Amino acid sequence: MNGCTEFVIAVAREAGVFLKERLNEKHVIDYKGEINIVTEEDRLSEGMITSRIRGRYPDHDILAEESAGTARHSRCRWIIDPLDGTTNYAHGYPVFCVSIAFEEDSEILLGVVYNPMLDEMFAAEKGKGAFLNGKKIAVSNTMDLSKSLLATGFPYDIRSNRNNNINYFNGVAKSAQAIRRAGSAALDMAYIAAGRFDGFWELRLMPWDTAAGWLMIHESGGIVTNLFGGAYHLEAPHILATNGKIHQGMIDMFKRIDRESMP
Ligand code: IPD
Ligand code: CA
Ligand code: CA
Repeated sequence: MNGCTEFVIAVAREAGVFLKERLNEKHVIDYKGEINIVTEEDRLSEGMITSRIRGRYPDHDILAEESAGTARHSRCRWIIDPLDGTTNYAHGYPVFCVSIAFEEDSEILLGVVYNPMLDEMFAAEKGKGAFLNGKKIAVSNTMDLSKSLLATGFPYDIRSNRNNNINYFNGVAKSAQAIRRAGSAALDMAYIAAGRFDGFWELRLMPWDTAAGWLMIHESGGIVTNLFGGAYHLEAPHILATNGKIHQGMIDMFKRIDRESMP
């Protein structure tokens, strides 16, 4: 996999620059669900990324949000969110990114998150650390939940599923310094790795939302589990990612909120 990191960085940059150029165009939108949309740019970005990967690694499997995955039974798989933050993008709200991860034997070895609006390239390689535009990054040192800046999001079935994060949001909002709901989970996770956010949680994310950020947080000294401290995996129903220092405090809070909402 020599030169692979440079290759993925170049691919993410190419897709990100394309998205940035089209941000203020009128977007063609399709509905995947009641409030879950996809723009033409999601699909075009994905096409650019997958054709580059197929050109260089034709035998590898690909899991990408907007197209049917491949099943080549390769030990190597690419996990791609071609535009994380589609709702923002469709409204011209400039907070979105491209997220690409590479996995071998079910272990994530490489993760890249690119924000073209700020030209910020977050990249991590297993065992080698996490970087922002080539400079090493680390999670924050915030020890106290009440001084923490947290991030979260809400699932697309928020209207129909009562397990929709509003109870957790209400509870945590009173304990943290502030919570942001910026609309791009992959970027939220990259910001944990860079020490900008102290903690992040969300329900029902997909592998392409979290794969790159998961490695990045691990490589920058943070912790990723499920909401209650159990092991995280890409199909887990919920995720908690923090700087490590506030992790137990957040787990205790989610457990308390659950206890208090029991009938
Ligand atoms: C979404 C964003 C959002 C999160 C949603 C995700 P998409 O991804 O990451 O922040 O709250 O759960 O599905 O649809 O913009 O790629
Ligand atoms: Ca996404
Ligand atoms: Ca997406």
